[in-house]
This record gives sequence, C-alpha cells and structure tokens, in this order.
Amino acid sequence: MDSHNHFLANESSLIDPFGRTIDYLRLSVTDRCNLRCTYCMAEDMTFLPRAQILSLEELRDVATAFVDLGVKKIRLTGGEPLIRRDIIKLVSAIASLPGLEEVTMTTNGMLLSKMAQPLKDAGLGRINISVDSLKADRFKELTRLGDLDQWHKSIRVAKESGFNKIKLNTVILAGFNDDEVLDLAHYAVDNEMDISFIEEMPLGAISSHERSETLVTSDQVREQLERNFSLVDSVETTGGPSRYLQVVGSKSKIGFISPMSNNFCSSCNRVRMTAEGRFLLCLGNENSMDLRHVMRSHPGDSVLLKAKIVEALHSKPERHHFDPNRTDIVRFMNMTGG
Ligand code: 5AD
Ligand code: SF4
Repeated sequence: MDSHNHFLANESSLIDPFGRTIDYLRLSVTDRCNLRCTYCMAEDMTFLPRAQILSLEELRDVATAFVDLGVKKIRLTGGEPLIRRDIIKLVSAIASLPGLEEVTMTTNGMLLSKMAQPLKDAGLGRINISVDSLKADRFKELTRLGDLDQWHKSIRVAKESGFNKIKLNTVILAGFNDDEVLDLAHYAVDNEMDISFIEEMPLGAISSHERSETLVTSDQVREQLERNFSLVDSVETTGGPSRYLQVVGSKSKIGFISPMSNNFCSSCNRVRMTAEGRFLLCLGNENSMDLRHVMRSHPGDSVLLKAKIVEALHSKPERHHFDPNRTDIVRFMNMTGG
C-alpha cells in the first residue's frame, strides 16, 4: 500500500491531543475585501502582496490533503472570497473531491448578484451572508464601503439561484446595532433564513471603537429575542462553537456564536488555513504551521503535506482565552479566515 492509500484508508487521521476529531476546514482564499467593517478592519489596512497568497493550485492541494485526511466539510472564507480571481474554478475543484460532503462559503454578499448562480452551478452547497444592519445609512457606516440596496439584490439572486437555506451572520455591537436584534431576526424568519448572532472578538487593533465597551453577550441577545419569539433547542449542531435554537412556528433557526461569554472549545471540530498558507489550529491562539513553505519547498509532495498537517495538529490548544480588554491577538479576522 502506498502512503496515499494509507491516508485514504485511515478515515480519522485528524484527531487532536484532546480526542477531538477534526472534520471541518475553514479555508481563507484572500485577505482582501471590498468592505471595511469597523469591527473587522482598520480603515487603512495593508494587504498581503500577491506572491504571499496561496495560488489556486496550492489551495486545491491543501484542500485535497485535508479531505484525504478525513475533512468532510470545507468553508471558503476571506477577507471576501468572491473577490478572489478563479473562485468559481476553486469551488468546482473542491466540490468534486471524493469524500468531501459539502463546500460552503461565508461572504458579505456584495458580489452575489453576479456570482450566485455560477457558484451554485460549480457545486457550492450552503452560503452564509453577513449583515449587521438593515438600515441603509448604518449599513454604510458599519461597512464603510457597503451598499444595502446591492446587498438586498444579492439576497434575491441567491434565493433564485437555488440556495434555499441561506444563513445570515450578524455581529451585534452595543451602541451601534443592538437595537436591531429583533428587526434582523424578523427579517430572517420572514424570509425563511437562519441567522447567527456573533459576539465580537478582539481580533486585530481597530480604531473605530473600544471593544470592551461594545460587547453584547449572546445571553443578552437571546433575552431580547425571547420577548418576541418562542425559541426551543434545536437538535442541529455543527460541532464546535455555535448553538442553534428553532424559532417556533417558522422554518428558521437562530444561532449564537459566543466566543467571549461561553466556551465550546471542548467540542471544537475545526481548523483554519489563512490566505498565506498558515495552518491555524485555533481562532484565539497563534499556534500555527507554515504550510506554504512546505508546499513551495517540496512542490507536489502530497505525502509530506499530509504528514505536516498531522504533525501540526499535535499543537491544537485545548481552548482559547479571549479577553475583550486586551488585544493580544495581532491577527485581524480577514487574516484569520472568518
Ligand atoms: N469578531 C466577530 N466577528 C467578526 N467578523 C469579522 N471580524 C469579527 C470580529 N472581530 C465576522 C464577520 C462575518 C464573519 C466571517 O466574521 O462579520 O460575518
Ligand atoms: Fe470584509 Fe467580512 Fe471583514 Fe467586513 S467583516 S471587512 S465583509 S472580511
């Protein structure tokens, strides 16, 4: 048996030192974005030179290696994945990997009106679309460059393209959009979408606000929601850091991603690749391995690549320790891979 088959035969090569099986990869395809959301980026971000970003072939090779090792689901992230050239080709290549159950994407939606159908045709499964306000002026303020009309248009096209279970992602910030929790939830329910409320994480130094003053916990969001909606535990779990509740009498689920107030690290099933090819073992730690270096120094050596991935997994930390008062994680979200 050659070593390739050996890896294929071994379905769960990705078990970390704490017994967690890793079957979910979040793969960032670019650190660039067509928006500049205040909680995510500084206004004058510098982005990586192109040579430092993984090529289409390298992205495909990384995805192939992870799937060979037992990954079942890959989510493409950014930055904004839809501004990456050849993203449709990448989706097709990944979607056709034997053993992979689903390829999904997190996007800000700005470009979906043009790209939703080609993405669907290329094999993209589900799609998560970010939205932090349904008020045009506020949407603009929070994203610095976004346009709510364009966002609505994209949502319409995404639905027409056959993405039937769209999930919205919303970061709630005190004083900015915490008065829109109910409106956002109603919008999701009325349109038969799911919505996840995400606690702001201290990723990267920003200047627009003090993160310690804007944190709204998932419990606070839930309390607001329960005044208007009846929520019951959902059987669904994606594994990892989100919890979902069913909105009674609707097709929608509401999720809570609570990295600050709650720690679901014990059921973590995921790892990340940054756009520059750094294999990140945890959102809240710097433990990583430079897989770009591995691929560029040994082109085409899939056996070595897989061995390095397995080796790196030994340093997956047990948990993260986020503190909204400290920005000791220098990575921004766009560098981290949504
Ligand atoms: N904290 C929490 N969520 C963030 N996102 C970007 N930066 C942060 C942060 N610092 C969100 C985006 C998007 C998802 C990929 O991550 O709003 O919905
Ligand atoms: Fe872009 Fe997403 Fe960051 Fe907003 S949150 S700037 S859309 S990467």
